[in-house]
Amino acid sequence: MKQRENWGSRLGVILAVAGSAVGLGNFLRFPVKAATYGGGAFMIPYLIAIVFLAIPLAWMEWTLGRYAAIHGHGTGPGLLDKMFKKPWAKFAGSFGLFAPTFISFYYVFIQSWLLAFAWYSLNGQLLNAVQSNTITSFFGDFIMLNTKIGPIPAAIFFFVITFLANFSVLAFGVRRGIERLNKYAMPLLLLMGVGLLIRVLTIPGIEAGLAYMWNPDFSALTNPRVWIEASGQVFFTLSIGIAVILCYASYVKKDEDLVLSSLSAVGTNTFAEVILSGTIVVPLAMILYGANIAEVAQMGTFGLGFQTMPMVFGKLPLANLLQFVWFSMLFLAGMTSTISIQQPLITFCEDELKFKRLKSIAAVAIFTGFGAFVAIFGLAGGALS
Ligand code: ALA
Repeated sequence: MKQRENWGSRLGVILAVAGSAVGLGNFLRFPVKAATYGGGAFMIPYLIAIVFLAIPLAWMEWTLGRYAAIHGHGTGPGLLDKMFKKPWAKFAGSFGLFAPTFISFYYVFIQSWLLAFAWYSLNGQLLNAVQSNTITSFFGDFIMLNTKIGPIPAAIFFFVITFLANFSVLAFGVRRGIERLNKYAMPLLLLMGVGLLIRVLTIPGIEAGLAYMWNPDFSALTNPRVWIEASGQVFFTLSIGIAVILCYASYVKKDEDLVLSSLSAVGTNTFAEVILSGTIVVPLAMILYGANIAEVAQMGTFGLGFQTMPMVFGKLPLANLLQFVWFSMLFLAGMTSTISIQQPLITFCEDELKFKRLKSIAAVAIFTGFGAFVAIFGLAGGALS
């Protein structure tokens, strides 16, 4: 059996799994869900779901990953085939390939918007759009909601750069590519988050926004929807149930502890989501933008992240810098997640089809690139119809 790669260090694998978890879901999806479903009230089912659903399921995925690796596999089809030895098993296991790959089709496109907006923060175009009150059309034009011609050239340009950046990392493999990126990107991302957090906590009057996020309103707990949404958020944010953790765990050395590594990754994600995102996004939008919580909820994921936050930062000193830090942090969060959802198909090509790494990279890049373009033009078509 061919020797499979391993992570170089325990910290490396923890940061890689945490990097997969900390993503757009933390900074864009979570605040909107929390705002929509009761702020402090949402946090109770959310934390219960982490303890009783996420932690046990994450342990299960890590363990399955190790079991798969012992038999030379790192993805669903090989694993289920080994476990059940029935003809249907490989087909059932392919869910663990398709789910992350399909998510990557749109995820990488959104990741590219973040790169673009980090650039527009630096060159002042974003601040101009904020100050001239044209941020809605600026964003709409960029993501082609307002255009009759499909994606604008800049959107395609940033998409191609982002796509190539992701695959350049993946081409270096698990240890020299994914692990190395996460070792730099995760501390940097957390540092940026803590920097923004400190800035937010020093804004006069922020207490009211914080109170909404942190004072539990127990009446919302009788609404089953709150529980369903909190559980859904936990699955999405921790990348659980789509065999991404399984794939990463298949590269953990045989004698490495799984339980604590898994807990550390869950803990890092929860810190980024609850402490950083929970404290920065909703309270800031409520205080500086003067919005009430219902308005924050209505802004939607992209409205909050790409329009409201630049507007809010635009009211503070060093606006360009704050906007740049916000979008760079999101871009890094997006990148560490995107590569984790692109890796399972690469692992499949290497383990099951016996492709060499570069052939696997090329095959997956062509397939996912095609998928992403269909998704992009599908989005354009949807926007125009
Ligand atoms: N877990 C990743 C996120 O939260 C997919 O965005």
